[in-house]
Amino acid sequence: MKLPSFFEEDRLAVEAALELRLPPESAAPSSIHQAMRYSVFAGGKRIRPILCLESARIFSADVSPALYPACALEFIHTYSLIHDDLPALDNDDLRRGKPTCHKKFGEAPAILAGDALLTLAFQVIGETPVPAERCVAILREISRGAGTIDGMVGGQVADIEAEGKKVGPEMLEYIHRSKTAALIRASVLAGALCSGAAPDDVERLRRFGDTIGWAFQVTDDILDVEESSAALGKTAGKDIAQQKATYPSVFGLERSHQIARELSENALRELDSFGPRASRLREIAEFLVLRRA
Ligand code: IPE
Ligand code: IPE
Ligand code: MG
Ligand code: MG
Ligand code: MG
Repeated sequence: MKLPSFFEEDRLAVEAALELRLPPESAAPSSIHQAMRYSVFAGGKRIRPILCLESARIFSADVSPALYPACALEFIHTYSLIHDDLPALDNDDLRRGKPTCHKKFGEAPAILAGDALLTLAFQVIGETPVPAERCVAILREISRGAGTIDGMVGGQVADIEAEGKKVGPEMLEYIHRSKTAALIRASVLAGALCSGAAPDDVERLRRFGDTIGWAFQVTDDILDVEESSAALGKTAGKDIAQQKATYPSVFGLERSHQIARELSENALRELDSFGPRASRLREIAEFLVLRRA
């Protein structure tokens, strides 16, 4: 799967913005800034910030304010990965092609680096150069997406509690929509809100984000089975080893592929009324389920 052509341009803008907003390693206490920077710049596809920018572009040619929530989303996502990899959670050694944060720096620095990235995210949202009402709306969507009620942390709790248990389709859907789709939905919404999208358009994008985010985690589960650790930059095959509740484990691989495709088609339908203005968002949505890493 070839990356959409605009991807590299967006990615470079995001990297520069992240660099600008992360404290330098020289700032005291240096060790935490080193750990934060290590995990943020270890690699990563930057899907959430790019979704934020391209959603903003539907409603405004100037997407530079959206770089603020875009960075915040990547900080929250990176914190979620650092904590997801801890021995108490998924206990992973490899992330973004490098040793995980706790392997490199130890558990206490990794926990604190996650805390620090989460906190920095909300500082950066507060600095977004848009009218205060937009800023508050962005804050609400991102905190909901990262939170406990149908949000990322809630989904992580359910994911951990489901380990080794027989899980039905309803619980599986809850886990995936909460732990992953909620922050992806928030990414799409943050961009749209930043550019002043009208309420109807925001609701369309909410459905788009929810559904494409769900498809994204189904694909993550599929790749864990089908790809190598080298290709993924994280340990492959660990979902089976840890008896995780996944789409392949509940539905089998073939049906999981079909579910990812159906979800992606449903998500894309929500973009119909935007016409060509949403063509980049369409390309990202297609990439999210066809990707191989
Ligand atoms: C991995 O997310 C964790 C999930 C929520 C599935 P990504 O696949 O976006 O990870 P990076 O940011 O590219 O490393
Ligand atoms: C991660 O789900 C969801 C997060 C909120 C981090 P996974 O545990 O499947 O993510 P990977 O496969 O380790 O990236
Ligand atoms: Mg996990
Ligand atoms: Mg994991
Ligand atoms: Mg996974």
